[in-house]
Amino acid sequence: MRFIGSKRLLLKNIEYVISQNITEHEKLNTFCDIFSGTTIVSQYFKNKYKIISNDLLYFSYCLQKSYVELNQKPNFKNLDMSLEVEEYLNNLSFTQKGFIFKNYSPGGKEDRKYLSKENATIIDGLRVCFENWLSKKKISDLEYFYLVSLVIEATPFVSNIAGTYGAYLKTWDKRSFKKIELNPLNIIDNKKNNKSYNEDCNKLIKKIEGDILYLDPPYNSRQYLPNYHLLETIAKYDDPVIKGKTGIREYKNQKSEFYNKSFAEDALESLIENAKFKYIVLSYNSEGIIPEAKLERLMRKYSKNVFNKYKINYRRYKKDRKTSDKEKLYELIHIIDKE
Ligand SMILES: C[S@@+](CC[C@H](N)C(=O)[O-])C[C@H]1O[C@@H](n2cnc3c(N)ncnc32)[C@H](O)[C@@H]1O
Repeated sequence: MRFIGSKRLLLKNIEYVISQNITEHEKLNTFCDIFSGTTIVSQYFKNKYKIISNDLLYFSYCLQKSYVELNQKPNFKNLDMSLEVEEYLNNLSFTQKGFIFKNYSPGGKEDRKYLSKENATIIDGLRVCFENWLSKKKISDLEYFYLVSLVIEATPFVSNIAGTYGAYLKTWDKRSFKKIELNPLNIIDNKKNNKSYNEDCNKLIKKIEGDILYLDPPYNSRQYLPNYHLLETIAKYDDPVIKGKTGIREYKNQKSEFYNKSFAEDALESLIENAKFKYIVLSYNSEGIIPEAKLERLMRKYSKNVFNKYKINYRRYKKDRKTSDKEKLYELIHIIDKE
């Protein structure tokens, strides 16, 4: 999935930093991805470590429950079907006009153009179907999260947006005319008891411990929820109160100190201070609201013996790209030993 701040292109760099600075990295057990987003970092390290993952976004939590907690695709044995579940669902037809149809397709009063009427109807149909199956105990909780994740992964491919859900396009992009298609998730089996959370990181950090803590906090004031509100609503399917041209949901319980210039540094310090992990790896953008010198001071303050800082040239997220200062942008990766 395309996601602001995704580390998809930096996975090998993160791995390199760990292998260069932690001599016993192959013997360590637990890796925590506490700002997990798309779960791509958790997935990458799942072959090596037991994973603890977390994010404030609920749709990220659904993805985590699938990619992190599951070690194999669920068998949906109570559904008693001969087809693979994705194929079965792709062949269903739906007519119900639900919340997504009424609010995010031209079928609704507001004429929002996030999804075609056909795809919005299918998404509503699938979500109602999953809720029924769960309430009738035809599927387990993990099977439910797997199914919701299928829809979350498939929706961006048919959404009429320029990358995020902050706005829909005025004219229809051709991808919106394709029928939404569910595809099996690639589940990695590490035979470990991996665990996912949906909490503020500063609360969670007091309850967990492990070997490597990977921190990838937001680095500017652009909140994630407004940019991904439709995926959050599809995941929760909770008929929220929505407002404005884009039909955004309320998110006061999902606000985070990391987006705020006055609070971000203290929030990061408190996270590091409370961490019961042997090593901490921090990714941050050179244009982030916490300046580079302050980040370094903070990481040095909590390091015992190891401190290292890497600068990795990084392409700006397309929407923000300004050609003039392209060269100056880089990702900073710090690593320290804490315990
Ligand atoms: C830079 S993104 C992480 C991207 C992720 N590493 C990936 O590659 O997909 C930052 C994430 O932090 C989450 N977040 C922001 N504040 C948070 C908080 N206080 N506690 C937990 N997660 C938070 C956001 O929802 C967002 O998914």
